[in-house]
Amino acid sequence: MREILNRLRLPVVAAPMFLVSGPELVIAAGRAGIIGAFPTQNCRNADDLDHWLATISADLTDADGTTLPWAVNLVTHRTNARLAEDLVLVERYRPPLVVTALGSPEPVLDTVHGYGGAVIADVADLPMARKAVAVGADGLACISAGAGGHTGSLSPFAFTAAVREFFDGLLVVGGGIADGNGVAGAIAAGADLVYVGTRFLAAQESLAVADYKEMVVDSDIDDLIVSAGITGTPASWLRPSLAANGIDPDTLDDQQPDRNYQAGGDAVRRWKDLWAAGQGVGAITAISPVADIVDDLAIQYRLAARRLDHARSLDDHHSLEGAAHA
Ligand SMILES: Cc1cc2nc3c(=O)[nH]c(=O)nc-3n(C[C@H](O)[C@H](O)[C@H](O)COP(=O)(O)O)c2cc1C
Repeated sequence: MREILNRLRLPVVAAPMFLVSGPELVIAAGRAGIIGAFPTQNCRNADDLDHWLATISADLTDADGTTLPWAVNLVTHRTNARLAEDLVLVERYRPPLVVTALGSPEPVLDTVHGYGGAVIADVADLPMARKAVAVGADGLACISAGAGGHTGSLSPFAFTAAVREFFDGLLVVGGGIADGNGVAGAIAAGADLVYVGTRFLAAQESLAVADYKEMVVDSDIDDLIVSAGITGTPASWLRPSLAANGIDPDTLDDQQPDRNYQAGGDAVRRWKDLWAAGQGVGAITAISPVADIVDDLAIQYRLAARRLDHARSLDDHHSLEGAAHA
């Protein structure tokens, strides 16, 4: 699984986003040297999913048979009636990584391991992380404070450090990271990969409608509100999109029972009309192709790594091993 990391230009996953990530974005991400991902819930039915998976796996497989890394996101919550059907297609097209969300990774482990894939469980707190590791997840996606969509509440640094106490598998961390500096910070803190969602909302290849992209470009961190009042689970929303739909962000009722990213019914209408974003939203100043966004992230990442070189000069003065445990 770790050899996937060596094939990347940048340790970044373009995180799966409901009604936003589709084949174009996943393929552009893979071609740009990061990992693209999409939730199967973005497909209306199994035929659509079959088509998407076929397109992505064909476009990301080179003539010599090497496949660029990509990922599929499966909702394993009991309300997802399509899980078994989607899993059959996942087994056929073999995405190297499968990220499970809103439930245990257990139902997909045997299938994904059976074709040589790796399972990453999306977790928002330590009990969830421990449970996922106990059932055999290969990796954890630690959703931290500042994330767009359903968000976590832990600092990405504290979350990474706490998880590293008991887990040395693949650690992905996300939440409010929208530039290469943040990517470098998360890697320096102990993550293997960084989940970046919001930064790709306004990508040319994103399925978000034009007005959503414009709102993302125009918005800043102050334009966000975290509330459970829309889906029943804390999520980070663009305040102007709530106001445009007659919802007063300041009087949101936190008690609504419904939750989840789901295809069908009210949930789709909610995510279609009410627009989510994370705390990195201020980093987006234009609608750009994925390749340009990844170029920007890569330049910032290299500059940040150079700043970390300062730490190397300290080696001259202190023995690292002695100092680390002093
Ligand atoms: C509009 C939107 C939709 C999302 N939909 C999903 C989803 O369907 N499944 C999922 O696991 N995470 C979803 N997420 C969360 C992202 O996968 C990721 O955890 C998050 O975007 C990382 O934080 P960032 O947005 O600050 O980069 C969504 C996020 C956004 C902004």
